[in-house]
Amino acid sequence: MIKLHNINSKLLEAHYAVRGKIVNRAHELEAQGRKIIYCNIGNPQALKQKPLTFARQVLSLLEYPALLTRPEAAGIFPADVIDRAKLILEKNPNGLGAYTQSAGLPFIRKAVADFINKRDGIPVDMDRILLTDGASKGVQAAFTMLTNKENDGYMIPIPQYPLYSATIALYGARQINYFLDEGANWQLSETELNASIAAAKKSGVNPVAIAVINPGNPTGAVLSQENIRMVIRFAKKHDLSILADEVYQENVYGKNLKFHSFAKVMHEIGEKDVTLFSFHSVSKGFLGECGHRGGYLEVRNMPDDAYAELVKLQSIGLCSNVAGQIVTGLMVAPPAKGSPSYELYARERDGILGDLKEKAEILGKGLNEIEGMKTDIPQGAMYAFVKFELPHKKGVELARLTPEARLKYEAGLDSDYCLSLLEETGICVVPGSGFGQRPGTLHFRTTFLPPKEDIRALVASMKKFHSSYIAKLLSHA
Ligand SMILES: Cc1ncc(COP(=O)(O)O)c(C=O)c1O
Repeated sequence: MIKLHNINSKLLEAHYAVRGKIVNRAHELEAQGRKIIYCNIGNPQALKQKPLTFARQVLSLLEYPALLTRPEAAGIFPADVIDRAKLILEKNPNGLGAYTQSAGLPFIRKAVADFINKRDGIPVDMDRILLTDGASKGVQAAFTMLTNKENDGYMIPIPQYPLYSATIALYGARQINYFLDEGANWQLSETELNASIAAAKKSGVNPVAIAVINPGNPTGAVLSQENIRMVIRFAKKHDLSILADEVYQENVYGKNLKFHSFAKVMHEIGEKDVTLFSFHSVSKGFLGECGHRGGYLEVRNMPDDAYAELVKLQSIGLCSNVAGQIVTGLMVAPPAKGSPSYELYARERDGILGDLKEKAEILGKGLNEIEGMKTDIPQGAMYAFVKFELPHKKGVELARLTPEARLKYEAGLDSDYCLSLLEETGICVVPGSGFGQRPGTLHFRTTFLPPKEDIRALVASMKKFHSSYIAKLLSHA
Protein backbone atom coordinates (compact mmCIF):
# COMPACT_ATOMS: atom_id res chain seq x y z
CA MET A 1 0.00 0.00 0.00
CA ILE A 2 1.22 3.48 -0.81
CA LYS A 3 2.25 5.46 2.30
CA LEU A 4 2.74 9.17 2.78
CA HIS A 5 6.52 8.86 2.67
CA ASN A 6 6.38 7.06 -0.71
CA ILE A 7 4.45 9.72 -2.57
CA ASN A 8 5.86 12.46 -4.72
CA SER A 9 7.75 14.76 -2.33
CA LYS A 10 6.96 17.71 -4.59
CA LEU A 11 3.27 17.16 -3.91
CA LEU A 12 4.01 17.14 -0.18
CA GLU A 13 5.83 20.44 -0.60
CA ALA A 14 2.91 22.18 -2.34
CA HIS A 15 0.57 24.30 -0.19
CA TYR A 16 -2.73 25.86 -1.14
CA ALA A 17 -3.83 28.16 1.65
CA VAL A 18 -7.23 29.17 0.35
CA ARG A 19 -8.44 25.63 0.95
CA GLY A 20 -6.27 24.69 3.93
CA LYS A 21 -6.63 23.83 7.60
CA ILE A 22 -8.84 26.80 8.52
CA VAL A 23 -11.33 26.01 5.78
CA ASN A 24 -11.50 22.37 6.87
CA ARG A 25 -12.29 23.55 10.38
CA ALA A 26 -15.01 25.82 8.94
CA HIS A 27 -16.60 22.77 7.27
CA GLU A 28 -16.51 20.89 10.60
CA LEU A 29 -18.16 23.79 12.43
CA GLU A 30 -20.77 24.11 9.72
CA ALA A 31 -21.55 20.40 9.99
CA GLN A 32 -22.16 21.04 13.72
CA GLY A 33 -24.75 23.65 12.79
CA ARG A 34 -22.72 26.89 13.04
CA LYS A 35 -23.34 29.67 10.52
CA ILE A 36 -20.10 30.27 8.64
CA ILE A 37 -19.44 33.33 6.49
CA TYR A 38 -17.09 31.99 3.85
CA CYS A 39 -14.77 34.82 2.90
CA ASN A 40 -11.87 32.53 2.10
CA ILE A 41 -12.27 32.05 -1.61
CA GLY A 42 -13.49 33.90 -4.69
CA ASN A 43 -16.36 31.54 -5.39
CA PRO A 44 -19.24 33.98 -6.05
CA GLN A 45 -22.09 31.55 -6.61
CA ALA A 46 -21.33 29.80 -3.32
CA LEU A 47 -22.08 33.19 -1.73
CA LYS A 48 -25.50 33.70 -3.28
CA GLN A 49 -24.46 35.42 -6.54
CA LYS A 50 -26.95 34.32 -9.18
CA PRO A 51 -25.76 32.89 -12.49
CA LEU A 52 -26.47 35.00 -15.59
CA THR A 53 -29.78 33.89 -17.07
CA PHE A 54 -28.55 34.04 -20.66
CA ALA A 55 -25.61 31.72 -20.06
CA ARG A 56 -27.69 29.15 -18.20
CA GLN A 57 -30.52 29.22 -20.74
CA VAL A 58 -28.19 28.54 -23.66
CA LEU A 59 -26.37 25.86 -21.72
CA SER A 60 -29.56 24.04 -20.77
CA LEU A 61 -30.64 23.85 -24.40
CA LEU A 62 -27.23 22.53 -25.35
CA GLU A 63 -27.20 19.92 -22.60
CA TYR A 64 -30.63 18.71 -23.72
CA PRO A 65 -31.05 19.70 -27.39
CA ALA A 66 -34.31 17.72 -27.66
CA LEU A 67 -35.89 20.78 -25.97
CA LEU A 68 -35.26 22.73 -29.15
CA THR A 69 -37.80 20.65 -31.03
CA ARG A 70 -40.50 21.13 -28.38
CA PRO A 71 -43.18 23.77 -29.04
CA GLU A 72 -43.03 24.95 -25.38
CA ALA A 73 -39.40 26.00 -25.84
CA ALA A 74 -40.46 29.27 -27.48
CA GLY A 75 -42.50 30.10 -24.38
CA ILE A 76 -39.60 29.45 -22.02
CA PHE A 77 -36.55 30.72 -23.87
CA PRO A 78 -36.13 34.09 -25.65
CA ALA A 79 -35.69 33.85 -29.42
CA ASP A 80 -32.02 34.85 -29.37
CA VAL A 81 -31.26 32.11 -26.82
CA ILE A 82 -32.84 29.54 -29.11
CA ASP A 83 -30.96 30.97 -32.10
CA ARG A 84 -27.68 30.95 -30.19
CA ALA A 85 -28.14 27.33 -29.09
CA LYS A 86 -28.98 26.30 -32.65
CA LEU A 87 -25.97 28.15 -34.00
CA ILE A 88 -23.65 26.48 -31.50
CA LEU A 89 -25.10 23.06 -32.38
CA GLU A 90 -24.61 23.82 -36.04
CA LYS A 91 -20.95 24.67 -35.43
CA ASN A 92 -20.47 21.81 -32.99
CA PRO A 93 -22.91 19.14 -34.17
CA ASN A 94 -21.33 16.54 -31.86
CA GLY A 95 -22.72 18.40 -28.85
CA LEU A 96 -21.37 18.67 -25.33
CA GLY A 97 -20.68 14.97 -24.92
CA ALA A 98 -17.90 14.67 -27.50
CA TYR A 99 -14.21 15.59 -27.30
CA THR A 100 -13.29 18.69 -29.28
CA GLN A 101 -10.05 19.72 -30.96
CA SER A 102 -7.31 19.87 -28.33
CA ALA A 103 -7.04 23.67 -28.54
CA GLY A 104 -10.80 23.98 -28.17
CA LEU A 105 -13.70 24.57 -30.54
CA PRO A 106 -12.49 26.78 -33.41
CA PHE A 107 -15.59 29.03 -33.48
CA ILE A 108 -15.13 29.78 -29.78
CA ARG A 109 -11.45 30.50 -30.24
CA LYS A 110 -12.48 32.89 -33.03
CA ALA A 111 -14.98 34.54 -30.66
CA VAL A 112 -12.21 34.93 -28.04
CA ALA A 113 -9.96 36.50 -30.68
CA ASP A 114 -12.75 38.95 -31.63
CA PHE A 115 -13.29 39.78 -27.94
CA ILE A 116 -9.61 40.63 -27.40
CA ASN A 117 -9.56 42.62 -30.62
CA LYS A 118 -12.61 44.60 -29.56
CA ARG A 119 -11.29 45.09 -26.01
CA ASP A 120 -7.81 46.23 -27.03
CA GLY A 121 -8.02 47.26 -30.68
CA ILE A 122 -5.07 45.03 -31.57
CA PRO A 123 -4.60 42.17 -34.04
CA VAL A 124 -5.29 38.73 -32.56
CA ASP A 125 -4.55 35.29 -33.97
CA MET A 126 -7.19 32.69 -33.06
CA ASP A 127 -4.53 30.03 -33.56
CA ARG A 128 -2.68 31.35 -30.54
CA ILE A 129 -5.67 30.80 -28.26
CA LEU A 130 -6.25 27.66 -26.21
CA LEU A 131 -9.46 26.97 -24.32
CA THR A 132 -8.69 25.67 -20.83
CA ASP A 133 -10.42 24.18 -17.77
CA GLY A 134 -10.37 27.50 -15.93
CA ALA A 135 -7.34 29.77 -15.87
CA SER A 136 -5.60 27.39 -13.44
CA LYS A 137 -4.99 24.79 -16.12
CA GLY A 138 -3.74 27.47 -18.50
CA VAL A 139 -1.23 28.65 -15.93
CA GLN A 140 -0.08 25.09 -15.31
CA ALA A 141 0.29 24.49 -19.06
CA ALA A 142 2.63 27.49 -19.24
CA PHE A 143 4.66 26.12 -16.31
CA THR A 144 4.90 22.70 -17.98
CA MET A 145 6.18 24.36 -21.11
CA LEU A 146 8.70 26.67 -19.45
CA THR A 147 10.18 24.55 -16.66
CA ASN A 148 13.20 22.89 -18.16
CA LYS A 149 16.13 22.77 -15.78
CA GLU A 150 16.48 22.13 -12.04
CA ASN A 151 17.35 25.73 -11.27
CA ASP A 152 14.66 27.37 -13.45
CA GLY A 153 12.84 29.97 -11.42
CA TYR A 154 9.66 32.04 -11.56
CA MET A 155 9.33 35.55 -10.27
CA ILE A 156 6.05 35.80 -8.41
CA PRO A 157 4.46 38.66 -6.52
CA ILE A 158 4.34 38.61 -2.75
CA PRO A 159 1.57 38.51 -1.75
CA GLN A 160 0.50 36.09 -4.48
CA TYR A 161 -2.33 33.75 -5.32
CA PRO A 162 -1.07 30.34 -4.13
CA LEU A 163 -1.67 28.63 -7.47
CA TYR A 164 1.75 30.05 -8.34
CA SER A 165 3.77 28.93 -5.32
CA ALA A 166 2.01 25.54 -5.31
CA THR A 167 2.68 24.94 -9.01
CA ILE A 168 6.32 25.94 -8.57
CA ALA A 169 6.61 23.41 -5.74
CA LEU A 170 4.82 20.74 -7.76
CA TYR A 171 7.12 21.23 -10.74
CA GLY A 172 10.27 21.35 -8.63
CA ALA A 173 11.04 24.86 -9.91
CA ARG A 174 12.48 27.75 -7.89
CA GLN A 175 10.38 30.54 -6.46
CA ILE A 176 11.71 34.07 -6.81
CA ASN A 177 9.71 36.45 -4.66
CA TYR A 178 9.22 40.08 -5.51
CA PHE A 179 7.35 42.21 -3.00
CA LEU A 180 4.49 44.39 -4.13
CA ASP A 181 4.56 47.92 -2.78
CA GLU A 182 1.86 48.13 -0.11
CA GLY A 183 2.51 51.85 0.31
CA ALA A 184 1.85 52.49 -3.40
CA ASN A 185 -1.46 50.65 -3.89
CA TRP A 186 0.38 47.35 -4.32
CA GLN A 187 1.98 48.30 -7.65
CA LEU A 188 5.20 46.62 -8.79
CA SER A 189 8.43 48.43 -8.04
CA GLU A 190 11.29 48.38 -10.55
CA THR A 191 13.86 48.69 -7.78
CA GLU A 192 12.34 45.66 -6.07
CA LEU A 193 12.29 43.64 -9.32
CA ASN A 194 15.94 44.46 -9.97
CA ALA A 195 16.97 43.50 -6.44
CA SER A 196 14.95 40.30 -6.52
CA ILE A 197 16.32 39.05 -9.85
CA ALA A 198 19.88 40.00 -8.91
CA ALA A 199 19.63 37.99 -5.68
CA ALA A 200 18.13 35.00 -7.53
CA LYS A 201 20.86 34.98 -10.17
CA LYS A 202 23.53 35.31 -7.51
CA SER A 203 22.22 32.20 -5.80
CA GLY A 204 22.36 30.21 -9.06
CA VAL A 205 18.68 30.39 -10.03
CA ASN A 206 17.85 30.81 -13.71
CA PRO A 207 14.78 33.08 -13.96
CA VAL A 208 12.53 32.04 -16.86
CA ALA A 209 9.33 34.00 -16.32
CA ILE A 210 7.60 36.66 -14.28
CA ALA A 211 4.00 36.24 -13.14
CA VAL A 212 1.81 39.31 -12.70
CA ILE A 213 -1.77 39.29 -11.40
CA ASN A 214 -3.82 42.25 -12.57
CA PRO A 215 -6.22 43.16 -11.01
CA GLY A 216 -4.54 41.67 -8.01
CA ASN A 217 -5.37 38.72 -5.86
CA PRO A 218 -5.06 39.07 -2.87
CA THR A 219 -4.32 42.80 -3.10
CA GLY A 220 -7.37 44.12 -5.00
CA ALA A 221 -5.00 46.49 -6.87
CA VAL A 222 -5.30 47.59 -10.50
CA LEU A 223 -1.97 48.15 -12.26
CA SER A 224 -1.28 51.37 -14.13
CA GLN A 225 -0.29 51.34 -17.79
CA GLU A 226 3.14 52.68 -16.85
CA ASN A 227 3.64 49.86 -14.33
CA ILE A 228 2.82 47.29 -17.02
CA ARG A 229 5.23 48.98 -19.47
CA MET A 230 7.94 48.80 -16.83
CA VAL A 231 7.35 45.05 -16.37
CA ILE A 232 7.54 44.44 -20.12
CA ARG A 233 10.83 46.35 -20.37
CA PHE A 234 12.15 44.41 -17.38
CA ALA A 235 11.12 41.07 -18.93
CA LYS A 236 12.82 42.03 -22.18
CA LYS A 237 16.03 43.01 -20.42
CA HIS A 238 16.21 39.67 -18.60
CA ASP A 239 14.77 37.48 -21.34
CA LEU A 240 11.76 36.43 -19.27
CA SER A 241 8.38 35.26 -20.46
CA ILE A 242 5.40 37.03 -18.89
CA LEU A 243 2.50 35.19 -17.28
CA ALA A 244 -0.30 37.78 -17.16
CA ASP A 245 -3.11 36.58 -14.94
CA GLU A 246 -6.02 38.77 -15.96
CA VAL A 247 -8.94 36.78 -14.59
CA TYR A 248 -10.31 39.86 -12.75
CA GLN A 249 -10.28 42.16 -15.77
CA GLU A 250 -14.00 42.96 -15.46
CA ASN A 251 -13.68 43.61 -11.71
CA VAL A 252 -12.45 47.19 -11.64
CA TYR A 253 -14.26 49.53 -9.23
CA GLY A 254 -11.85 52.38 -8.51
CA LYS A 255 -12.81 55.79 -9.87
CA ASN A 256 -10.84 56.69 -13.03
CA LEU A 257 -9.17 53.28 -13.02
CA LYS A 258 -9.14 51.08 -16.07
CA PHE A 259 -7.93 47.58 -16.81
CA HIS A 260 -5.00 47.54 -19.26
CA SER A 261 -4.09 44.19 -20.70
CA PHE A 262 -0.46 43.19 -21.13
CA ALA A 263 -1.28 42.29 -24.75
CA LYS A 264 -2.43 45.83 -25.51
CA VAL A 265 0.46 47.55 -23.76
CA MET A 266 2.92 45.21 -25.45
CA HIS A 267 1.40 46.00 -28.83
CA GLU A 268 1.49 49.73 -28.14
CA ILE A 269 5.19 49.73 -27.33
CA GLY A 270 5.89 47.48 -30.32
CA GLU A 271 7.44 44.69 -28.23
CA LYS A 272 7.78 41.56 -30.35
CA ASP A 273 10.41 39.53 -28.51
CA VAL A 274 8.89 38.89 -25.11
CA THR A 275 6.69 35.80 -24.94
CA LEU A 276 3.39 36.58 -23.29
CA PHE A 277 0.89 34.12 -21.83
CA SER A 278 -2.39 35.86 -20.87
CA PHE A 279 -5.06 34.08 -18.84
CA HIS A 280 -8.76 34.72 -18.52
CA SER A 281 -11.58 32.80 -16.87
CA VAL A 282 -15.35 32.42 -16.57
CA SER A 283 -14.95 32.07 -12.79
CA LYS A 284 -14.66 35.77 -11.95
CA GLY A 285 -15.93 39.04 -13.46
CA PHE A 286 -19.71 39.03 -13.27
CA LEU A 287 -20.26 35.46 -14.48
CA GLY A 288 -18.79 33.78 -11.42
CA GLU A 289 -19.11 30.42 -13.16
CA CYS A 290 -16.31 28.77 -11.14
CA GLY A 291 -17.93 25.36 -11.32
CA HIS A 292 -18.01 25.34 -15.09
CA ARG A 293 -14.23 25.43 -15.33
CA GLY A 294 -13.85 27.57 -18.43
CA GLY A 295 -11.13 29.94 -19.53
CA TYR A 296 -8.56 30.66 -22.17
CA LEU A 297 -4.88 31.20 -22.62
CA GLU A 298 -3.62 33.58 -25.30
CA VAL A 299 -0.01 33.41 -26.41
CA ARG A 300 2.01 36.14 -28.15
CA ASN A 301 5.51 36.14 -29.53
CA MET A 302 6.12 32.42 -29.81
CA PRO A 303 7.39 30.61 -32.92
CA ASP A 304 5.04 28.10 -34.59
CA ASP A 305 7.07 25.02 -33.65
CA ALA A 306 7.12 25.95 -29.96
CA TYR A 307 3.42 26.77 -30.00
CA ALA A 308 2.71 23.37 -31.56
CA GLU A 309 4.23 21.80 -28.43
CA LEU A 310 1.76 23.69 -26.26
CA VAL A 311 -1.10 22.34 -28.36
CA LYS A 312 0.46 18.88 -28.06
CA LEU A 313 0.44 19.31 -24.29
CA GLN A 314 -3.28 20.10 -24.43
CA SER A 315 -3.79 17.03 -26.61
CA ILE A 316 -2.28 14.83 -23.90
CA GLY A 317 -5.35 15.79 -21.86
CA LEU A 318 -7.51 15.51 -25.00
CA CYS A 319 -9.38 18.79 -24.59
CA SER A 320 -10.87 21.06 -21.95
CA ASN A 321 -14.43 20.30 -20.83
CA VAL A 322 -16.95 21.34 -23.46
CA ALA A 323 -19.53 23.03 -21.20
CA GLY A 324 -16.66 25.23 -19.94
CA GLN A 325 -15.70 26.02 -23.53
CA ILE A 326 -19.29 27.02 -24.27
CA VAL A 327 -19.49 29.28 -21.20
CA THR A 328 -16.21 30.89 -22.31
CA GLY A 329 -17.83 31.49 -25.70
CA LEU A 330 -20.86 33.08 -24.03
CA MET A 331 -18.63 35.25 -21.84
CA VAL A 332 -16.80 36.70 -24.83
CA ALA A 333 -19.89 36.99 -27.04
CA PRO A 334 -22.80 38.10 -24.83
CA PRO A 335 -26.26 38.93 -26.25
CA ALA A 336 -26.10 41.81 -28.71
CA LYS A 337 -27.63 45.18 -27.83
CA GLY A 338 -31.23 45.20 -28.95
CA SER A 339 -31.63 41.41 -28.81
CA PRO A 340 -34.45 40.02 -26.61
CA SER A 341 -32.02 38.87 -23.89
CA TYR A 342 -29.94 42.02 -23.78
CA GLU A 343 -31.87 44.06 -21.26
CA LEU A 344 -31.93 41.32 -18.63
CA TYR A 345 -28.29 40.46 -19.33
CA ALA A 346 -27.20 44.10 -18.87
CA ARG A 347 -29.30 44.44 -15.72
CA GLU A 348 -27.80 41.31 -14.18
CA ARG A 349 -24.25 42.32 -15.17
CA ASP A 350 -24.55 45.87 -13.86
CA GLY A 351 -26.30 44.67 -10.71
CA ILE A 352 -23.49 42.26 -9.85
CA LEU A 353 -20.67 44.71 -10.61
CA GLY A 354 -22.44 47.59 -8.84
CA ASP A 355 -23.01 45.43 -5.82
CA LEU A 356 -19.37 44.33 -5.69
CA LYS A 357 -18.21 47.95 -5.85
CA GLU A 358 -20.51 48.89 -3.00
CA LYS A 359 -19.44 45.88 -0.93
CA ALA A 360 -15.74 46.67 -1.50
CA GLU A 361 -16.38 50.09 0.05
CA ILE A 362 -18.49 48.85 2.95
CA LEU A 363 -15.80 46.31 3.81
CA GLY A 364 -12.79 48.57 3.27
CA LYS A 365 -14.22 51.56 5.15
CA GLY A 366 -15.57 49.38 7.96
CA LEU A 367 -12.29 47.56 8.54
CA ASN A 368 -10.29 50.80 8.45
CA GLU A 369 -12.33 52.02 11.38
CA ILE A 370 -11.05 49.17 13.53
CA GLU A 371 -8.07 50.26 15.55
CA GLY A 372 -4.98 48.32 14.47
CA MET A 373 -6.37 47.36 11.03
CA LYS A 374 -5.62 48.98 7.71
CA THR A 375 -6.52 48.21 4.13
CA ASP A 376 -6.81 49.97 0.80
CA ILE A 377 -10.41 50.15 -0.34
CA PRO A 378 -10.21 47.36 -2.95
CA GLN A 379 -9.93 48.90 -6.43
CA GLY A 380 -10.49 45.64 -8.25
CA ALA A 381 -10.83 41.84 -8.03
CA MET A 382 -12.80 40.40 -5.08
CA TYR A 383 -10.51 40.77 -2.07
CA ALA A 384 -9.04 43.01 0.57
CA PHE A 385 -5.61 42.17 1.97
CA VAL A 386 -5.92 43.63 5.43
CA LYS A 387 -2.93 44.59 7.54
CA PHE A 388 -3.35 44.18 11.26
CA GLU A 389 -1.24 44.52 14.35
CA LEU A 390 -0.87 42.17 17.29
CA PRO A 391 1.27 42.37 20.40
CA HIS A 392 4.21 40.02 20.21
CA LYS A 393 4.42 36.88 22.26
CA LYS A 394 6.15 36.99 25.59
CA GLY A 395 9.68 35.71 25.45
CA VAL A 396 10.13 36.03 21.68
CA GLU A 397 13.14 38.12 20.81
CA LEU A 398 12.38 39.25 17.30
CA ALA A 399 15.83 40.67 16.68
CA ARG A 400 17.38 37.25 17.30
CA LEU A 401 15.20 35.42 14.78
CA THR A 402 16.56 34.57 11.33
CA PRO A 403 14.33 35.87 8.48
CA GLU A 404 12.97 32.30 8.00
CA ALA A 405 12.27 31.84 11.69
CA ARG A 406 10.58 35.23 11.80
CA LEU A 407 8.30 34.32 8.86
CA LYS A 408 7.41 31.06 10.58
CA TYR A 409 6.69 32.82 13.85
CA GLU A 410 4.50 35.37 12.07
CA ALA A 411 2.71 32.63 10.13
CA GLY A 412 1.84 31.15 13.52
CA LEU A 413 0.49 34.50 14.69
CA ASP A 414 -1.74 35.15 11.69
CA SER A 415 -2.95 31.53 11.52
CA ASP A 416 -3.86 31.51 15.23
CA TYR A 417 -5.68 34.78 14.76
CA CYS A 418 -7.70 33.54 11.77
CA LEU A 419 -8.51 30.26 13.49
CA SER A 420 -9.76 32.06 16.61
CA LEU A 421 -11.75 34.45 14.44
CA LEU A 422 -13.43 31.45 12.83
CA GLU A 423 -14.10 29.68 16.11
CA GLU A 424 -15.53 32.76 17.77
CA THR A 425 -17.39 34.51 14.97
CA GLY A 426 -17.85 31.96 12.15
CA ILE A 427 -15.95 34.27 9.76
CA CYS A 428 -13.61 32.30 7.52
CA VAL A 429 -10.67 34.32 6.13
CA VAL A 430 -7.20 33.24 5.04
CA PRO A 431 -4.00 34.17 6.92
CA GLY A 432 -1.65 36.49 5.05
CA SER A 433 1.16 33.94 5.36
CA GLY A 434 -0.76 31.76 2.86
CA PHE A 435 -0.10 34.43 0.22
CA GLY A 436 3.21 35.72 1.52
CA GLN A 437 3.86 39.03 3.28
CA ARG A 438 6.80 41.18 4.20
CA PRO A 439 8.53 40.02 7.37
CA GLY A 440 7.34 42.15 10.25
CA THR A 441 3.80 42.49 8.89
CA LEU A 442 0.61 40.52 9.47
CA HIS A 443 -2.38 40.32 7.15
CA PHE A 444 -5.46 38.33 6.35
CA ARG A 445 -7.31 38.13 3.08
CA THR A 446 -11.05 38.40 2.93
CA THR A 447 -13.39 38.44 -0.04
CA PHE A 448 -16.22 40.95 -0.25
CA LEU A 449 -18.52 38.48 -1.95
CA PRO A 450 -21.08 37.72 0.79
CA PRO A 451 -24.35 39.67 0.74
CA LYS A 452 -24.18 43.26 2.07
CA GLU A 453 -25.91 42.43 5.35
CA ASP A 454 -23.32 39.70 5.99
CA ILE A 455 -20.47 42.11 5.23
CA ARG A 456 -21.85 44.68 7.66
CA ALA A 457 -22.25 41.96 10.28
CA LEU A 458 -18.73 40.75 9.52
CA VAL A 459 -17.23 44.20 10.10
CA ALA A 460 -19.09 44.54 13.40
CA SER A 461 -18.05 41.11 14.68
CA MET A 462 -14.47 41.62 13.55
CA LYS A 463 -14.27 44.83 15.52
CA LYS A 464 -15.46 43.07 18.66
CA PHE A 465 -13.28 40.05 18.07
CA HIS A 466 -10.12 42.05 17.34
CA SER A 467 -10.18 44.04 20.56
CA SER A 468 -11.02 41.02 22.70
CA TYR A 469 -8.27 38.95 21.00
CA ILE A 470 -5.71 41.66 21.71
CA ALA A 471 -6.90 42.00 25.30
CA LYS A 472 -6.47 38.25 25.72
CA LEU A 473 -2.96 38.30 24.25
CA LEU A 474 -1.98 41.19 26.49
CA SER A 475 -3.31 39.46 29.55
CA HIS A 476 -1.03 36.49 28.76
CA ALA A 477 1.94 38.71 27.95
C1 LIG B 1 -5.47 35.30 -9.67
C2 LIG B 1 -6.20 34.05 -9.99
N1 LIG B 1 -5.82 33.31 -11.03
C3 LIG B 1 -6.43 32.17 -11.34
C4 LIG B 1 -7.48 31.70 -10.59
C5 LIG B 1 -8.11 30.40 -10.96
O1 LIG B 1 -9.28 30.59 -11.65
P1 LIG B 1 -10.01 29.43 -12.43
O2 LIG B 1 -11.26 29.14 -11.68
O3 LIG B 1 -10.29 30.04 -13.77
O4 LIG B 1 -9.11 28.28 -12.54
C6 LIG B 1 -7.92 32.42 -9.49
C7 LIG B 1 -9.00 31.91 -8.63
O5 LIG B 1 -9.33 32.44 -7.59
C8 LIG B 1 -7.26 33.62 -9.17
O6 LIG B 1 -7.63 34.36 -8.13
